[in-house]
Amino acid sequence: MNNYDILKRTFAVSIDKSNIGQNLMFVGWIEDFRDMGKIGFISVRDMTGNFQGVVTGEILIKLREIPRQSVVIIHGVIKESKAESFQVEVKVEKVELLSKAANPLPIDPTGRVSSSLDKRLDSRALDLRNSRISNIFKTRSNALYLIRKFLTSKMFVEVNTPKIIGSATEGGADLFGFEYFSKKAFLAQSPQLYKEQLTLGLERVFEISPYFRAEPSHTVRHLSEFVSVDMEAAYLKYTDVMDFIEELIISTISDLYTNHNIQMKYFGESRDILPDKIPRISYEKCLEDLKSLGEKIEFGEDLSDPSLRKLGEIYPKFYFIVDWPTKLKPFYILEHEKDPELSKSFDLQYGYLEIVSGGTREHDSERLKNKLLEKGLNPSSFSDHLQAFEWGMPPHSGCGLGFDRFMMILTKSTNIREVVLYPRDTERLSP
Ligand code: 4AD
Ligand code: MG
Repeated sequence: MNNYDILKRTFAVSIDKSNIGQNLMFVGWIEDFRDMGKIGFISVRDMTGNFQGVVTGEILIKLREIPRQSVVIIHGVIKESKAESFQVEVKVEKVELLSKAANPLPIDPTGRVSSSLDKRLDSRALDLRNSRISNIFKTRSNALYLIRKFLTSKMFVEVNTPKIIGSATEGGADLFGFEYFSKKAFLAQSPQLYKEQLTLGLERVFEISPYFRAEPSHTVRHLSEFVSVDMEAAYLKYTDVMDFIEELIISTISDLYTNHNIQMKYFGESRDILPDKIPRISYEKCLEDLKSLGEKIEFGEDLSDPSLRKLGEIYPKFYFIVDWPTKLKPFYILEHEKDPELSKSFDLQYGYLEIVSGGTREHDSERLKNKLLEKGLNPSSFSDHLQAFEWGMPPHSGCGLGFDRFMMILTKSTNIREVVLYPRDTERLSP
């Protein structure tokens, strides 16, 4: 290996008709080997794609000893191909084994022998040698980049707040607690309180970070550790935040289809996820819709999973549910002046799936204390937070976007575990 300048390697993507006759040095893994006796064909792949190599003589004999998925260096010449499925092939002149793969392997990453999701997750690194799977994570990286670019263009400042915290962020019982030296600590369930405080000096902030939730949910959309894109902005109203979210969703999806279509093709040709506009439907209208479908549901009740599935049949794509009952939302959400039973809040849905929750926040410290008491929380546990509200806290609004759920939509995956490298749920704590 040290004998070669690896930066001179040719990537699979750049092997085409324009370089017929040229020599190449290629580094990648053997995906397939067909031994026809006097001649053999190998399919080799790197992070950019694959090509077919033709082998004869000594090299053919050597390849019989090299298991599939082993990493090799190939030297050869690019030639026109007679095979229908390839424009060019490589006449292999030398093969060097860099790293030998075990035989058999726990899963077949080519997908010819299919494996359950659980088995694939147990061998995740190997699973990524499947192109569709690796393209999920390339799309994930592209989407994160595009979201950062979008928010930065709107003057948001990226921040990092602690994930080890001393008290419950939002109230509720779904926290993981642990020993922290001589104290009790928790893993943050969201950066909610920090991001609100930070609007005091930075005005517009966002954070892309893990949330930890000890919810014993066994579904295809819940994990114990997931990534959220949180944002918070001084002076904005929840309707302004919805405008931003709508623009972010549309611009991210259309950029992926325009500039990263090679990846997006792995998830089907249809661009049906891209909206022109995202409708805003009130919670009360959702109740009417559900009642017209025979659901028994009264004002103030949360929308259960079966209700959301029914709503998802009426609204199968992106839509906002706005103005939720105040009692269903956390203490920090502001209510409407004219009707305190309704809050200035929204959820962004994709069919049955909740993607974003957000709203206008209560920024008056006295009223915030009362809201804590109304929700059965102890204001003294929130004293660090409440003090910031005495220092000239601007009115502010924000939201949290469940990034893994957004990835499910982008890649048309039905299970959140597909789009998370090493998912954590009630059962899974490894690899
Ligand atoms: O709706 P949630 O709980 O909202 C908050 O945490 C607020 N602090 C956000 C705000 O700014 N008001 O969580 C935000 C999003 C949800 O809409 C959902 O998409 C996702 O996070 N989410 C989960 N994703 C995967 N697994 C779980 N267990 C999730 N719980 C919520
Ligand atoms: Mg929510």
